[in-house]
Amino acid sequence: MPSALPAGDPVPDDGSLPESALATLARQSFSIYLHVPFCTTRCGYCDFNTYTAAELGNHPGASRAGYIDSAIAELDLAARVLGPGVPEVSTVFVGGGTPTLLPPGELGRFVRAVEARFGLAVDAEITTESNPESVDAPGLVQLAADGFNRISFGMQSAVPHVLAVLDRVHSTGRPAQAVREAKEAGFPHTSLDLIYGTPGESLEDWHTSLDAAVAAEPDHLSAYSLIVEDGTRLATKIRRGELPAPDDDDLAEKYLLADEQLSRAGFGWYEVSNWARSIDARCRHNLAYWRSGNWWGVGPGAHSHVGGTRWWNVKHPANYAARLAAGLSPAHSGERLSAREDHTERVLLQLRLAEGLGLSQLSVTEQARIPALVVRGLVSCVGDRVSLTLEGRLLADAVTRDLLDA
Ligand SMILES: C[S@@+](CC[C@H](N)C(=O)[O-])C[C@H]1O[C@@H](n2cnc3c(N)ncnc32)[C@H](O)[C@@H]1O
Ligand code: SF4
Repeated sequence: MPSALPAGDPVPDDGSLPESALATLARQSFSIYLHVPFCTTRCGYCDFNTYTAAELGNHPGASRAGYIDSAIAELDLAARVLGPGVPEVSTVFVGGGTPTLLPPGELGRFVRAVEARFGLAVDAEITTESNPESVDAPGLVQLAADGFNRISFGMQSAVPHVLAVLDRVHSTGRPAQAVREAKEAGFPHTSLDLIYGTPGESLEDWHTSLDAAVAAEPDHLSAYSLIVEDGTRLATKIRRGELPAPDDDDLAEKYLLADEQLSRAGFGWYEVSNWARSIDARCRHNLAYWRSGNWWGVGPGAHSHVGGTRWWNVKHPANYAARLAAGLSPAHSGERLSAREDHTERVLLQLRLAEGLGLSQLSVTEQARIPALVVRGLVSCVGDRVSLTLEGRLLADAVTRDLLDA
């Protein structure tokens, strides 16, 4: 079951933004996110805003076939709201859900619609996520021809009993085969997502999954600790005592193993949960989020951020399509960050990056707390930047809390 939207303030039906937010467009990179809210089956741990065909039923406007038309209508709205001051798009990221469940060529139609309205930078990074079972070699050739130059496959694990607990439908060899097929299709950048801490996963199992991911030779890897989301089948099984809850010490040990194995294989961490083979292989779209760039999120439940104003769309695909068809913004609610909230968010996000945080971004009292964090081995200072140590990465949120003024 998708989780509820955050509470927020009402937003205008025409989607308009404050002048102060629009004024930041010219001096920031601009990105587009497209959310594709469809999956064949729902994995037992996942609370993303995604729907199976059975969940959608015959809701008018909620079909996969008509989806990109609604998304393009939102791009039209974005172009009207942002006006001529918007820079060319630096990165496009299509996430889900399962983007590759859309009819062939539909994602390409979306990329061309972005280009027609905003222009694409010559070196634009254009990524799609994919469940490895939902795409085949001809589909990957089509995506490459449509302009995609980066693909991220959800692998999660290489161990059958772990995949079974996660309710994943793919066979263990499929993610590596998908990486191979993507490279043959011409993708310069490929990534795999892994999850650690699944109930019943041993340290040896996690070692096996990391080895298999490295052997598939992507140039980027993400490793996420399993989050038990309320309302999921996994949460129900844990609540009933049918499965054990993830254990903090086990998660820490697995994070350390991931960093050790990935470093040895030539991957460098650049964000707490992300490793890349080279600077070029880092995900520029996610870096734009972590550096508080401007982005427009298209699709049901998608979040957007322009110059300190954030908003998020209605969640149900039928509601989303109906609002756009009626000429209304699909935004559900939003918020304008106070200076304090903006600062907290910047510190929280940037401290997760290996490049760390410029000391000048911190207040005098915050800077004064750094020596104690250095003594505890949680951060290090190089020149005028502060960044997390390996120990600090295990406690990133707590370090941020200790650093910030109340
Ligand atoms: C939304 S999924 C999109 C990719 C595609 N649908 C798939 O699952 O293969 C993006 C990634 O989020 C991660 N993820 C989703 N739910 C999670 C959870 N509860 N805990 C940790 N990671 C999660 C998985 O690694 C997944 O590959
Ligand atoms: S395929 Fe991905 S988005 Fe869909 S239910 Fe599974 S984890 Fe969630």
